[in-house]
Amino acid sequence: MINVEWGKLPFAYFKTDYNVRCYFRNGAWGKLEISSSENISIHMAATALHYGQEAFEGLKVFRGQDGKIRIFRWEENAKRLQNSARGILMAEVPTDLFKEMVWNVVKLNEKYVPPYGSGASLYVRPLLIGTGPQVGVKPASEYLFLVFAGPVGPYFKEGFKPVKVQIARDFDRAAPLGTGIFKVGGNYAASLRAGERAHGDGYAAALFLDAKEKKYIDEAGPANFFGIKNNTYVTPKSGSILPSITNMSLQDIARDLGMQVEVRPIAVDELGSFEETGACGTAAVITPICAIEDRDYATVFSYCKDGQAGPVSTALYKRLQGIQFGDEEDKFGWVDVIE
Ligand code: PLP
Ligand code: COI
Repeated sequence: MINVEWGKLPFAYFKTDYNVRCYFRNGAWGKLEISSSENISIHMAATALHYGQEAFEGLKVFRGQDGKIRIFRWEENAKRLQNSARGILMAEVPTDLFKEMVWNVVKLNEKYVPPYGSGASLYVRPLLIGTGPQVGVKPASEYLFLVFAGPVGPYFKEGFKPVKVQIARDFDRAAPLGTGIFKVGGNYAASLRAGERAHGDGYAAALFLDAKEKKYIDEAGPANFFGIKNNTYVTPKSGSILPSITNMSLQDIARDLGMQVEVRPIAVDELGSFEETGACGTAAVITPICAIEDRDYATVFSYCKDGQAGPVSTALYKRLQGIQFGDEEDKFGWVDVIE
């Protein structure tokens, strides 16, 4: 048993024993390689370094009360990585290779899967990069697919405590017909300035608006946004946000709890009418939002009476985590046990 203060883990890089790698060369994927090095060696003209041929995924693995290790909706991550690869013309990782790599990295690092009850989980980070050299702007002919993993705590250090977010009108994360729907590094580079300003101003994340009209909510930093009112779960429809697997799951849970679900544009003007708002994602799980500051208009939309998460967000959170940790029936078939 390793000595880690599981309950105090931040969401951060954590060195574990192994990662797994596979190279795409001459039009085909090679054999899976196990490595204990934290470094990779790539050509200085690799397209990942110059032209942003880079996509990644994030998924979580949970230890249940029964000691079993459960992985949440990994096939959706495999599909999304394939979509990201198509979006920026990289070699696609077949679903069976994705599975083999993820299963291997989890089993090899099994001692780092946090114990049940600690609230922590093992975060798995698949990464696909163009390694072949190009100086002209063209896709590479060689790729590396790498998967590492490490134990993490909550993304927003508050955990399930409500956070404040800040609307950013003077920065865009993604253009309407750009790469916002893909999980590619460039979107995160584009989000850094707004995100760091928000942190400096005391907010957990920047809330991005649609780049064209600056009228509708896009995303809450590295997470999707949702609002609750009149027994309805409302979440943005936008061509420039990442299709969140957590968000898809919450929509199913909301319906199952007897709520309506609406996926449609959410105007900033509508924010005042929500009973609850939140950010959702693999890392964020559900992070309730207690205040949204509109910095250009010096207005604040407030939620969470007494600083506590609202009842609907709490119910959604409990149900989602209950399924992930194996405490509740997996009625949607979202969980696989890694043996
Ligand atoms: N939006 C962005 C920009 C993200 O980086 C993430 C994290 O993956 C999400 C939303 C949430 O997606 P998911 O629930 O699939 O993790
Ligand atoms: C995730 O929720 O998995 C993310 O990728 C968010 C962030 C760490 C990029």
